[in-house]
Amino acid sequence: MCGIVGYVGTGKATPVILDGLARLEYRGYDSAGIAVIEDGVLKVRRRAGRLAQLVESLKLEPIEGSVGIGHTRWATHGAPSEKNSHPHCDCRGDIAVVHNGIIENYQELKNQLEARGHVFKSETDTEVVAHLLEEEFTQGAPSLVEAARRALPKAKGAYALGLLRRQEPGVLVAARLGSPLIVGLGSGENYVASDVPAILSRTRNIVYLNDGEVIELTPTAWKVTDLNGVPREHPVSRIEWSVDAAEKGGFEKFMLKEIHEQPRVIRETLMGRISADKKSIQLKDMNLSVEELKSLKKMFIVSCGTAFHAGYVGKYLLEHFTNLPVEVDLASEFRYRSPKMDKDTVIFTVTQSGETADTLASVRAAKAKGCKVISICNVVGSSIARESHGVIYTNAGPEIGVASTKAYTAQLTAFCLFTIYYGKLTGSIPDEKAADMIRQLEGIPDKVDEILKDQAHIKALATKYAQAPSWLYLGRKFNFPTALEGALKNKEITYTHAEGFAAGEMKHGPIALIHKEMPILCIAPRGETYEKMTSNIREVGARAGRIICVATRGDADIAGISEDVIYVPETPEEFSPILCVVPLQLLAYYCARARGCDIDKPRNLAKSVTVE
Ligand code: F6R
Repeated sequence: MCGIVGYVGTGKATPVILDGLARLEYRGYDSAGIAVIEDGVLKVRRRAGRLAQLVESLKLEPIEGSVGIGHTRWATHGAPSEKNSHPHCDCRGDIAVVHNGIIENYQELKNQLEARGHVFKSETDTEVVAHLLEEEFTQGAPSLVEAARRALPKAKGAYALGLLRRQEPGVLVAARLGSPLIVGLGSGENYVASDVPAILSRTRNIVYLNDGEVIELTPTAWKVTDLNGVPREHPVSRIEWSVDAAEKGGFEKFMLKEIHEQPRVIRETLMGRISADKKSIQLKDMNLSVEELKSLKKMFIVSCGTAFHAGYVGKYLLEHFTNLPVEVDLASEFRYRSPKMDKDTVIFTVTQSGETADTLASVRAAKAKGCKVISICNVVGSSIARESHGVIYTNAGPEIGVASTKAYTAQLTAFCLFTIYYGKLTGSIPDEKAADMIRQLEGIPDKVDEILKDQAHIKALATKYAQAPSWLYLGRKFNFPTALEGALKNKEITYTHAEGFAAGEMKHGPIALIHKEMPILCIAPRGETYEKMTSNIREVGARAGRIICVATRGDADIAGISEDVIYVPETPEEFSPILCVVPLQLLAYYCARARGCDIDKPRNLAKSVTVE
């Protein structure tokens, strides 16, 4: 989710690159860097912090040339420091690399490269690419583009890469596999970028690279091939978006863009965590030994808001598949209710920002009692990530919309990974079952994609129900938290009253609320509690509520007891919360739109709650 900008032309590369990086900066990056070939010398400048630090340093000590690459980093491997900022170079300082994505097998590659004498200067996965390219030159590669074609098949994972080589000062090379990369065609100058807004002020003629392609650009020419050197034809697209629309990838709001990013985000959260034989899970940054994990007696999951709902799903997953007792807590209550914990207790916090004050205070309180703290966190180097003993990073990238969407499904994915990991380790999930769960989990991104492609129906439902003054959301078991999250999304962006309940609780009070105008969103995918759920739906329907069900595709029976149905693809019930929440996000979004609300910045809310 980093930002890349590259330039090759006859003008000055540095201002073009800095301008492009500035246009990507609204996403909130943690460091920035640039490499330019100046008079036959590859010059690199990098700074931790905002882009302004880099700009300032370049004002004091400029670097100039007509080919260059720049990068704004959203840290994934290694802290957000100067040494981990891109570009990264090979041992001789001839090659510079900027990268967006994750090289899954970087540790293995790094070990091999170090054994052959390469010296690494950073903790990043990216640096292996520079050294792999360097090796291709020692083995006779004739050009940077050919070295890239030979080296890249060794890297597993996802990448968008920008490459420069001191000895080829008129050439910019880029490559793509699984991470976004576009090419801009100018007059006497060409560009690469991770996203359209970076170069929109310079050209509207864009080439979209496909996975497995490499491009060589000079000021006046460009050539795309696959990794075998076979040429690929590409149309040139003319972009008509405004700069504002381009920042949102053509979507009208960041929230909608982020909802659509979920298949990729889930894929990237799984990336590097599934073993090559697809039988086990690897969680590298967790920093708990197998003995420590096996001796755990209890877990508390502590978080706020949407992250609390993710934690709730985590509780159901862990209790269903393992023998570990799990409690979930709102971070704002945790410290005040005197929970009993000691060194055999693990605290899991869940946080997108890593800065939420109540969650941070819970981390500190738990550590003071000798507990181990693991965090599921989206921001490398954030306070909670730093203060926890271990972290499972969600690779959701920067989330701009105040209402959390992609961070939530990434958190759910992280809990699925941990459950399989811990269940296998402690023997409560047999090897065969773990392999089957991994296979199913890998299928989730495509299923989310299917839901996103079929949203005309959800839009129509929003038109029908948007003006309802009050909503109920009902679910059971794994999808009780989905009901809570659906209601939260609705209330925070539409300003409508919405409440989530465990469906079995209706008879104990909330059923009194039902009247004939009230939409009741029932999350009822196939699974253990399906029959119980449908009987709850009948009870509600008998009180004249307007039933909208989220159900498994192919479930014709549910239509008989609902006014409207939104279908999701079939999936094991333990993974259904990842699918079922997506239509609820979209429904809340389109209702808010119909009500004319400020969706990306709802009233009274802030993205990061750093006060208690
Ligand atoms: C709701 C939302 C909030 C956050 C909560 C915790 O859409 O975004 O409820 O989930 O404030 O924030 P983090 O995850 O940053 O700790």
